[in-house]
Amino acid sequence: MCGITGYVGDGIALDDGDSDGSVPDGDEGGAAGDGGFAGVGDIVHEGLRNLEYRGYDSAGVALVGEASGLTVAKRSGEVNNLTVPDVPDASLGVGHTRWSTHGPPTDANAHPHTDCVGEVAVVHNGIVENHEALKRDLADHEFTSDTDTEVIPHLIEEELDADSETTLLDAVRAVEDRLEGSYAICAVREGEDEIVVARRGSPLVLGRGDDATFVASDVTAFLEHTRDVTYLEDGDVAALSADGVEVYADGESVDRGVETVTWEADAAEKGGYDHYMRKEIHEQPESLRQTIAGRLDVDGGDVDLDVSFPPGFLADLEEIQIVACGTSNYAGRYAAQLFEELSGVRATVEIASEYEFGAGRSPDRTLVVAVTQSGETADTLGAVRRANAAGARTFAVTNTLGSTVTREVDDTAFIRAGPEIGVAATKTFASQVATLTMLAVAIGRERGALAAADARPVLEGLRDLPGAVQQVLDAEPTVREAATEYGDSEAFFFVGRQLGVPVALEGALKLKEISYDHAEGFAAGELKHGPLALVTPDTPVLAVLTDGSRADETMNNVTEAQTRGAPAIGCVSAGEEYATLDVSLPVPDVGLVEPLVANVYLQLFAYHVANDKGRSIDKPRNLAKSVTVE
Ligand code: AGP
Repeated sequence: MCGITGYVGDGIALDDGDSDGSVPDGDEGGAAGDGGFAGVGDIVHEGLRNLEYRGYDSAGVALVGEASGLTVAKRSGEVNNLTVPDVPDASLGVGHTRWSTHGPPTDANAHPHTDCVGEVAVVHNGIVENHEALKRDLADHEFTSDTDTEVIPHLIEEELDADSETTLLDAVRAVEDRLEGSYAICAVREGEDEIVVARRGSPLVLGRGDDATFVASDVTAFLEHTRDVTYLEDGDVAALSADGVEVYADGESVDRGVETVTWEADAAEKGGYDHYMRKEIHEQPESLRQTIAGRLDVDGGDVDLDVSFPPGFLADLEEIQIVACGTSNYAGRYAAQLFEELSGVRATVEIASEYEFGAGRSPDRTLVVAVTQSGETADTLGAVRRANAAGARTFAVTNTLGSTVTREVDDTAFIRAGPEIGVAATKTFASQVATLTMLAVAIGRERGALAAADARPVLEGLRDLPGAVQQVLDAEPTVREAATEYGDSEAFFFVGRQLGVPVALEGALKLKEISYDHAEGFAAGELKHGPLALVTPDTPVLAVLTDGSRADETMNNVTEAQTRGAPAIGCVSAGEEYATLDVSLPVPDVGLVEPLVANVYLQLFAYHVANDKGRSIDKPRNLAKSVTVE
């Protein structure tokens, strides 16, 4: 998804690699490649590299210097292929990675976009929904791209032309009122020493250095320079200078405070693995430990998620509606079964883009749970807004502090998985399921639907989860062999029952998104109702054969496929045995979360199949980490 980065300041001394964004003494600033010194262009370029994980198809920068004016460079393709101009007097700059929504990924459509005279440049995330109507109002302007974004610099130009006293800040505030949709904007102007930004629906965070200010779609862009950040809220417009930040909401100056980001920069690096995805798969014991830390009371049969519902709300609860997309939706499908079993409440799962609150439901007796690792997925936010509009209580399960979803729901439980860079979600799926399992126990206990004695084995399973995942990771060589043996097959089918179904769906999604192979997940019982027609000796079946997934019945369906010649790989509860399996992968006994442990085998299988084929594992084609358009 598109990424924004920006910097205003005189450059950064890099001698100890741990700059706080301060201006080096005695240096004019702005010069690139000055041996231990990064100029504005270098800093913006580096910010773009740090945002690459979000997925993009083109990139660009705009630099402003007192004498040099406005310089723009942009092109389709990779950030490393973008030549950032050498602008020695640059005092501020913005950059953008674009993931096409309006218009193909061409040089012309790449951001920044400029006005007719090249005085103003704008980078933008999100969609200007009324861009066609606005473009009609701008009939005498010259447009050079197919993008919705380009109306913004031309609207700013109109404001500036109308009155010579108008500043960029005045113009952006006026233009902002005319834009419909969700967006984050950064604008720069020749002759002004501020970056002006606006946020409505797409994230923007400001980094506060000494004598320097950063802006980005997420902190990863500038974390190496400062940990002190200010999160903007929807409707905010801000002017960023080297001296600091002025934020305005509804025309009034507001103080959005400063928070300190505590996670380590190296948590976002590959740490010795070839790919972020493999690193993140291997981080799961640790990330799961963080997820459950301080939350389980195994002896007491209870959990503490530090959320409290209004008195009587849980007792009267009739339905839990889970809304989510992709992998998060599969985590939701896993959780829905647990909500029904552990908290005695009917639970449904909707693909967020399809969600409507539904007729005949009582909003005050419904809890809508949005599951989203990024907290920025437009489809999920849309579902949350529909739930809020219907009057339901909303709850987010997310990985991202300060994300949009956390500002729009009544309560949030953080999954604490740490930053996930690989586009394919791995450790966040595990932490989502673990967090939702705790939520199901918490609701069940508070409703009186779950006795402490019945909660205890679930909590023991959660407590033992990190160790169980580690055992699976230790068996990686077996999975690698299976991936090598079966990786060139025509298609792959993943099956399971009950809690094994979402894991089968997730296993198939993981394989298809990173290997580009055809993979499908099914409820095992459905195999014989159609998909069996596709089964041949060249279509391996991967099965979840653990506790919580009706293993014996699933194995019957696997056998039906084997009879048609399909090889079978099974994730089998430790101590159980299905002699006919071609590959048997043991899963430690952790009760209801056993299928979640089986999923780690499927992650490793997908990884090694894709790796053997030399795929772009961390940034699969056509996909983005954070999908902020509907
Ligand atoms: C997962 O591997 C995918 N990249 C994708 O399905 C993802 O889970 C989905 O876009 C939802 O993202 P979210 O959790 O950030 O809302």
